[in-house]
Amino acid sequence: MVNILEVDGVEKKYPGVIANQGVSLHVREGSIHAIIGENGAGKSTLMKILYGLVRPDAGVIKVFDREVSLKSPQDAIALGIGMVHQHFKLADNATVLENVILGSEPSRFGFAIKFEEARKKLVEIAHTYQLDIDPDESISNLGVGERQRVEIAKVLFRGAKILILDEPTAVLVPQEVSELFTNLRELVNKGLTVLFISHKLDEVLAIADEITIMRQGTTVASRKPHDTNKKELAELMVGGELPRPKAGAQNISSKSILTIKGASYSRADGREILRGVNLDLHGGEILGLAGVEGNGQSELIELIMGLMRPSSGTVEVLGLNTVTTPTRDIRNAGVGYIPQDRQRDGLLMSAPLWENRILGHQFSQPMAKGIWVNKGSAAEDSKRVVAEFDVRTPGVNVLASALSGGNQQKFIVGRELSGDPHLIIAAQPTRGVDVGAQAIIWEQLMKARTRGAGILLISADLEELFSLSDRIAVIYGGSIVSILNPSTTTAEDLGLAMTGAISA
Ligand SMILES: Nc1ncnc2c1ncn2[C@@H]1O[C@H](COP(=O)(O)OP(=O)(O)O)[C@@H](O)[C@H]1O
Ligand SMILES: [Mg+2]
Repeated sequence: MVNILEVDGVEKKYPGVIANQGVSLHVREGSIHAIIGENGAGKSTLMKILYGLVRPDAGVIKVFDREVSLKSPQDAIALGIGMVHQHFKLADNATVLENVILGSEPSRFGFAIKFEEARKKLVEIAHTYQLDIDPDESISNLGVGERQRVEIAKVLFRGAKILILDEPTAVLVPQEVSELFTNLRELVNKGLTVLFISHKLDEVLAIADEITIMRQGTTVASRKPHDTNKKELAELMVGGELPRPKAGAQNISSKSILTIKGASYSRADGREILRGVNLDLHGGEILGLAGVEGNGQSELIELIMGLMRPSSGTVEVLGLNTVTTPTRDIRNAGVGYIPQDRQRDGLLMSAPLWENRILGHQFSQPMAKGIWVNKGSAAEDSKRVVAEFDVRTPGVNVLASALSGGNQQKFIVGRELSGDPHLIIAAQPTRGVDVGAQAIIWEQLMKARTRGAGILLISADLEELFSLSDRIAVIYGGSIVSILNPSTTTAEDLGLAMTGAISA
């Protein structure tokens, strides 16, 4: 078997961080080669090196046995290496075809781009690889899964033989993941090679022909799916046994800290998003909220945080009516809020960590002295969060954007659990994070519950809901359709309830 790509001894250092060291990777042509590792393990750095975005300090890269030097993405593309990034880079106001052409070498297509020629080529690519895309659709009308297909088509349009996908499933729902996997299988059947980055073990076991594990900047092992299992892969990733959440003794208080009574919410266009929601959360309890995305979860969170008013009904947080109490006062009464979109709502990406420690807590101790922000305490407390939540960062002065996704999330969770809040709204707290970070976040949420906090856990991850929740409420079409006991409910029953098929 031919190795289409070989990496040996690759090294990349950043100030204070070894992102890659002693990395070696042998990729067979026509295979799906998965790279797994915890957040911060160095996966994206290696992929950026292979795509010419980052220059390695040392090491050899060979394509078809020939040593190459990748100084820019143009070099990589010329060698047939293409990459789909973790965050898509499509222009919203343009069509699929325009986006595919965008940035292609002028030398190949002429400065006045021959649209019809390009369209023909794109249609052919879509047909050959069975990618369901419409060249004339506007990107703004496309969902995440479709956008990803456009990104893949764009890479193929440029003649890629090796396709790098950096955490492609982090943004997808299960249905879209299986579509992507079908697409990937089709690509390798037609002779392409795929480098598939993930930290989800089920996924790599399902799709990969070979799995290389990275830990702390280095490649530690390679396995074939039939020669390994989830437990071994997880242990190779974290370098030891995983901590597991232990459901502590239940100590649910009689005090209700979140009371939602008959809350409805309609949008300006009259569409009813929430219908008569009743929920009651006590101290010392984790209430899971299950539901297919878009069934009113986001609006419910906004009602609780006082960001929107119910059209009817009431929401009381720690005894405060959310309509008459400003959001700031609700937060200061002891509410931690882990938003579902960490990049948009959880962090200022271009600000250092210590400033991000203050975000949303500008008016509470120890961040503020009167109206003045206290930098010293913010930095001090950021260091505590970094240590307690195992945030991998060289310091608290680095920008939030320099951290990997899982480390960003651990930092947010650490910040929101600071000051021992009574109520924690945790929306998708471990989405897109690796098993190590997930274990830490789960452990900390359980700890908060043990000390008496009430937690509303909004999650699309059924394993997470079953592992943590004392009760699971199911939201469907804006109503709570069932409240289930996780110890007597099967995943199938929960799934059925989420589709509205059964209700209690
Ligand atoms: N441009 C950069 N500057 C400084 N440090 C970086 C940069 N890019 C990555 N790192 C650091 O290198 C390490 C590996 O990061 P990355 O390759 O993104 O990991 P992964 O993709 O496996 O989560 C992390 O500690 C990260 O903070
Ligand atoms: Mg990454």
